[in-house]
Amino acid sequence: RVTRLARMDAVFFTNSGTEANEAALKLARKHQRVLGHPERTGFVALEGSFHGRTMGALSVTHTAKYREPFEPLVPGVAFVPAGDAAALERALVEQRPAALILEPIQGESGVQDLDFAYLRAARELATKTGTVLIFDEVQSGSGRSGTFLVAEQAGVAPDVVTLAKAIAAGLPMGMCLASSALANTLQPGDHGSTFAGGPLACRGALVFLRELEEGGLQHAVRERGAQLRAGLEALAREFPVIVELRGRGLIQGVRMARGADELKAALYARGLIVNVTGGDVIRLLPPYVIRAEEIQRGLGLLREALASL
Ligand SMILES: Cc1ncc(COP(=O)(O)O)c(C=O)c1O
Repeated sequence: RVTRLARMDAVFFTNSGTEANEAALKLARKHQRVLGHPERTGFVALEGSFHGRTMGALSVTHTAKYREPFEPLVPGVAFVPAGDAAALERALVEQRPAALILEPIQGESGVQDLDFAYLRAARELATKTGTVLIFDEVQSGSGRSGTFLVAEQAGVAPDVVTLAKAIAAGLPMGMCLASSALANTLQPGDHGSTFAGGPLACRGALVFLRELEEGGLQHAVRERGAQLRAGLEALAREFPVIVELRGRGLIQGVRMARGADELKAALYARGLIVNVTGGDVIRLLPPYVIRAEEIQRGLGLLREALASL
């Protein structure tokens, strides 16, 4: 079911998003080795990226505060500015990495949704340079953006996709999905984990995917996402301190000219928990099952908190 939804050919189950990315990085290296390019071991990642906290995933994570206490990390990683296709081309041509890894919506650095044109350019450049294209959709995927993957909306077919978070309805699970060219790259024994793919997590994933596809959950995410966006647009008209709205579906961000931390505290005092990501963006990641009246209530609390600043 998940390979059909993600339009991929194989899946490796893990226990978390970090481990899914770890599997993806290893898969890319082995793929290059199988193709006769064992020297292609490096990775290109984007500034602002977050891919997890194990050594491999941390090595392609950009934020200094997560990385520096644990250096040295995996060598051969280059970071390029997100959204700059020319810089990406230079890095892929010069570095000849095993893979390019990116989040189509950078969750931890302020719900930065990358242009679809940039994502398509990344696909073309990866193909041209023989680089494995990994989409980390741990936060943006599993239906949260309104479609199963953001890749689908962008019209891009990555070589590898990683998922986690919602995928097993709250049970610990991640997935590393591969397209046909990489579907047989990992052979039995190459990679594994005791609890990965356990029956309880898999059952959770099956129930979640069925609800998403057949139980109206994907439709609800789109409806509630549109409602949330319309409400945020009205607030942005009323409060000029809101300078930008980002994201889609039920992953949205409100960029503030100032006072993001104060707004977070004012919301917390009113019983609404939000996070500030990227320094100035209030990130909204409501549960998929949120009801229309709860979105209305949340928007009301946001309005009250904005007025109190
Ligand atoms: C884009 C992205 N990748 C990877 C991870 C790591 O996932 P996990 O916390 O399940 O290990 C996260 C978690 O926030 C994430 O947002």
